[in-house]
Amino acid sequence: MFVYTWTVSLEESVALVIDGKQAAASVVAAVTEAAGKLEAEAGIKPGLAVVIVGNDPASHAYVNSKSKMAKQCGFNSIQHSLPEETTQEELEKLVAELNADPAIHGILVQLPLPKHLNAEPVILSISPEKDVDGLHVVNAGKIATGDLSTGLISCTPAGAMLLVKQIHGDDLSGLNAVVIGRSNLFGKPMGLLLLAANATVTMAHSRTKDLAAVCRNADILVAAVGRAQMVKRDWVKPGATVIDVGINRVDAPEKDEGKTRLVGDVAYAEAAEVAGAITPVPGGVGPMTIAMLMANTVIAAHRAAGKTPPKF
Ligand code: GUN
Repeated sequence: MFVYTWTVSLEESVALVIDGKQAAASVVAAVTEAAGKLEAEAGIKPGLAVVIVGNDPASHAYVNSKSKMAKQCGFNSIQHSLPEETTQEELEKLVAELNADPAIHGILVQLPLPKHLNAEPVILSISPEKDVDGLHVVNAGKIATGDLSTGLISCTPAGAMLLVKQIHGDDLSGLNAVVIGRSNLFGKPMGLLLLAANATVTMAHSRTKDLAAVCRNADILVAAVGRAQMVKRDWVKPGATVIDVGINRVDAPEKDEGKTRLVGDVAYAEAAEVAGAITPVPGGVGPMTIAMLMANTVIAAHRAAGKTPPKF
């Protein structure tokens, strides 16, 4: 009987680790420069208003880092922290005031909202020109129709796409891309951005039959399901680029009793043995989201000033 002992070592290549922190830092540097130039030339400081309702600690942590980064970029950074019992009318009234405020170029309402509030009409009440989250139907519709230059693109897919392009360049012709997850916030716009870059795109989700086999066909595999370490080694095509959008907090008894750690939707260590390139969690897609929010805000400020916005 033949024993192919060498096949194991051949498969044990180590993937390139895609550094989202570094990519985000270079976006933030370009944003800061563009903001400084806009202020010097047109006297306009980009203004970002972040609205948060309720007391969810994780959401407050996200929002605080968004506000802090906006300041670092030289923006006028405004945070509205509204109490849990805020009504739909009060929230929409605040959005209307921010829409009418010429010093504000970007409005972000942090999701999820408390259960008694309906996010949909709130998002639709944001002026599309100030919708730096890219969630308004006008902006979602522009991506869907292939217009990537006049609207605002949802931050996490825009950031994930920058990382994909670092590896594969701007033209993904001939490559199979699989996106797991079909949310409006990520999965749908990500699929559309990959399609716009000429990839052949499959949008997979919880009802997909034999998800592992579908994923194994992917040259670019993007996981955004919110289930810790679901994507296993044998779901990954050898040499594939793996983009992990999941952020899941799991118990870490190896650290100490009661401690936790963050993991993605991909079983990182085993997937990295097969993949060609892979994003870590944390330090992959996560830092890109905030960077692209800053990029969208500086783009919106340029358009409001009648200036050509920078490209990212
Ligand atoms: N909650 C988690 N991610 C996001 C995001 O990108 N935008 C908003 N508005 N809320 C979020």
